[in-house]
Amino acid sequence: MGGPMIVTGSRKVYPGKLTCKVLLTCLVGATGGLIFGYDIGISGGVTSMPTFLEKFFPKVYRKEELNVGSTNQYCKFNDPILTLFTSSLYLAALLASIVASKVTRAFGRRLSMLLGGGLFLIGAMVNGFAYNKKMLVGGRTLLGFGIGFANQSAPLYLSEMAPYKYRGALNICFQLSITVGILAAYALNYFTASHKNGWRISLGGAAVPALIFIMGSLFLPDTPNSLIERDRKEEAKTRLREIRGVHDVDEEFNDLVAASIESKKIKNPWLNLCKRKYRPQLMFVILIPFFQQFTGMNVFMFYSPVLFKTMGFGNNASLISSVATGGVNSVATLVSILSADRFGRKSLFIEGGAQMFVCQIIITYCIASKFGLSGHPAELSRKFATGVVVTICIYIAGFAWSWGPLGWLVPSEILPLEVRSAGQSVNVCVNMFFTFVIAQIFTMMLCHLRYFLFVFFACFVFLMTCFIIKYFPETKGIPIEEMADIWKGHSYWKKFVTDENENKDAKVEMSEGITVVKDLP
Ligand code: BGC
Repeated sequence: MGGPMIVTGSRKVYPGKLTCKVLLTCLVGATGGLIFGYDIGISGGVTSMPTFLEKFFPKVYRKEELNVGSTNQYCKFNDPILTLFTSSLYLAALLASIVASKVTRAFGRRLSMLLGGGLFLIGAMVNGFAYNKKMLVGGRTLLGFGIGFANQSAPLYLSEMAPYKYRGALNICFQLSITVGILAAYALNYFTASHKNGWRISLGGAAVPALIFIMGSLFLPDTPNSLIERDRKEEAKTRLREIRGVHDVDEEFNDLVAASIESKKIKNPWLNLCKRKYRPQLMFVILIPFFQQFTGMNVFMFYSPVLFKTMGFGNNASLISSVATGGVNSVATLVSILSADRFGRKSLFIEGGAQMFVCQIIITYCIASKFGLSGHPAELSRKFATGVVVTICIYIAGFAWSWGPLGWLVPSEILPLEVRSAGQSVNVCVNMFFTFVIAQIFTMMLCHLRYFLFVFFACFVFLMTCFIIKYFPETKGIPIEEMADIWKGHSYWKKFVTDENENKDAKVEMSEGITVVKDLP
């Protein structure tokens, strides 16, 4: 490929190919997902390690290990303090992503990525050496800050670096590394679970993905979009030539400069995001992460050891099953890498949703038939146990090639430059907030909703699939700075973005750096 820009129909086609440089750069950038994944995978296992509970949560330890209190399987693990340990990190990440939006816009994506890795590394060390609850919570807060920075910047980095035709595949490498992080954490928990200080190794082990991410980010170049945004145009053009592998990058470069000029006019991207013309993007950066969390996936990610134990599997069997589900999660993500740019995002969303819905109904039936409402299990046969694990794996595969990767890809590719950084922060905030909510209330919900818990999530999966069918315009194969046009052709969103409606937009006045928005719809 190469040569001048071509226009097919009404859509631009920039010259460029998938160069080794861009491939390597994106693979390194994607390691940002490792730290997030590691944390998701490690927490559930650590909070079910007896030595950890005995040291930091003696009350929970007595209740769980010595079987004091409820014998109802659904309620065995319902302890708000323990779940707060798991979920507090996500609140820290939420706050950090707001700060990260400013850093990412003013100093580039790479600095945010480095900061993310650095904070996570310190948090891992504090946790690994923790001798009291303060250190534990302090360390967890730092881990959260790290994740906030990394998740805000890495997906943007990938979407901006990738040639538009391969943006899906390259961005999904972020999700792939989340799943590798989860799998590595599950596997490590499996080996450390029986050691006295195993929890220290598991928590301190977070330093490894952090170091990989830091080392990688040190060598990464910043994106052309970000360089132009910071007035380093010559460097940006050279960078664009390098990563696209062609000399004639003028058209793409000029479009990036134009986007940057628009972006500079905006003093307050947060307020700007509320303008009517950005309504479609705003709805998607809120609803996609919200729905992603209400698929119920994290119930399995955080609590699969707990869940399998609840179902009567032994300690080892629970952990092995968790490792199996982690493996399925990673392998199934490869499917979306291969198909997102070929079959499009919409078909993956719909197929994955349907698959998760069916599995949730089967899981509900299995649990209901063995535990009823009382929560006292009948004998579990090997056939039954295998059936449950297989159904959970099919559910996980459905998530792993749809809502998992697309939950990070779609928000990062639909935002125009002037609101990209702020919009991505909204995406991370909503994602982290509802990850927090699910982590916090899952054990309580299991205790109260019993097997209806999975019906609850199935209802959301049904709803979100209908939402995608009606409201999502396909984004595959569209250059990122051209994305604004997709709304104009959509039956519902066009009314928000047509030129005549732009005039209805809030009038933004700048006075001494203060932005006043009047007449918001
Ligand atoms: C989600 C996480 C989830 C993970 C599972 C990510 O896309 O944001 O909440 O645990 O996928 O693979």
